[in-house]
Amino acid sequence: MKGLILSGGKGTRLRPLTYTGAKQLVPVANKPVLFYAIEDLVDAGVQAIGIVISPETGDQVKAAVGDGSRFGARVDYILQDAPRGIAHGIKIAQDFVGKDKFVLFLGDNFIRDGIVPQVAAFRDNSMHAQIILYKMDDPSSMGVAVLDDAGCVTKLVEKPKQFISPYAVIGIYMFDHHVFDAVNSIKPSKRGELEITDTIQYLIDQKLSVRAHLIQGAWIDTGKVQDILEANRLVLDVVESKNEGQVDAESRIEGRVVLEKGAVVVNSTVRGPAIIGEGTRIENAFVGPYTSIYYSCTIQNCEIENSVVLENSKICCLSKRIADSLIGRNTDISRAEGRTQTLKMVVGDYSKVGI
Ligand code: DAU
Repeated sequence: MKGLILSGGKGTRLRPLTYTGAKQLVPVANKPVLFYAIEDLVDAGVQAIGIVISPETGDQVKAAVGDGSRFGARVDYILQDAPRGIAHGIKIAQDFVGKDKFVLFLGDNFIRDGIVPQVAAFRDNSMHAQIILYKMDDPSSMGVAVLDDAGCVTKLVEKPKQFISPYAVIGIYMFDHHVFDAVNSIKPSKRGELEITDTIQYLIDQKLSVRAHLIQGAWIDTGKVQDILEANRLVLDVVESKNEGQVDAESRIEGRVVLEKGAVVVNSTVRGPAIIGEGTRIENAFVGPYTSIYYSCTIQNCEIENSVVLENSKICCLSKRIADSLIGRNTDISRAEGRTQTLKMVVGDYSKVGI
């Protein structure tokens, strides 16, 4: 079996982070969300992986993943000229996939318990496609599946305006070669994309067997800020302590904390679960639970909790605690010089600041 990961697209809901970076490279517990997808595939015995990339962020994805050898995988890249839809990503991967069965994994999806049983079931049973469902109160921002009394999928609708079923179709699908007939037959939707839901509906209409597997464990589409923070909490909930950095005698490390290589903690408290990245310095500061600080950051004279900070950022000298925040790369947040009643900011387009 092969794997196909979609890592193109626009990432509009994660702006401004996605103006300069691929949304699939936003870190969850200091590891790009895309890496979890690669690891899930490899764990399920899928080593030949194609990654669909965009002209804008493809080089970043290639630089981060390389040839896949460090994951125990072989990675090929497939360039998609524009975000023409998930089914278009399948279409352009036909040469890569050939006659093999494959797992399609959307590169911004995070599934806590991996996909080992689902891949085994698809490999061993005769079915043409398998989809994975997740029960939600409001699945209206997802593809949604309607089931009949026997639990068979009868209908799929992309982001339905009205409630039709509680079952969201998660971004991990398994197909055999029949899917190429589907993606070559369907037409773009109103939003101009070749939809994955129309692809699966085509297979159902052709009376091919499409099985649905309902999962109980957590699944997150990391498309929005709150979703990144939630995925971060899920991973930190099971992280094991590790110390490859330095902690001085005046500091306290409480609970499960990972200090990556070269991390330095000076006169500070780090209360886990938390992870402090390579070469990051925490000084006269408090880092609270469910916080991930990525590499080469400085956190000084301030307090932060339940937050994710991306690489090379500096947060310094704040009188208020930062909480529930996602802070981008190369940012500098510090107390303004001069008048204390003013706020002095350079804030990028589509940023959100809560004061
Ligand atoms: O997360 C599950 C949902 O993913 C499904 O329930 C929906 O049926 C499915 O359409 C999809 O919805 P999203 O609105 O979340 O899709 P998004 O545009 O965010 O794209 C998902 C991933 O695929 C993301 O990593 C970007 C990538 N992508 C997307 C498009 C449209 C591409 O690589 N190329 C594309 O043309």
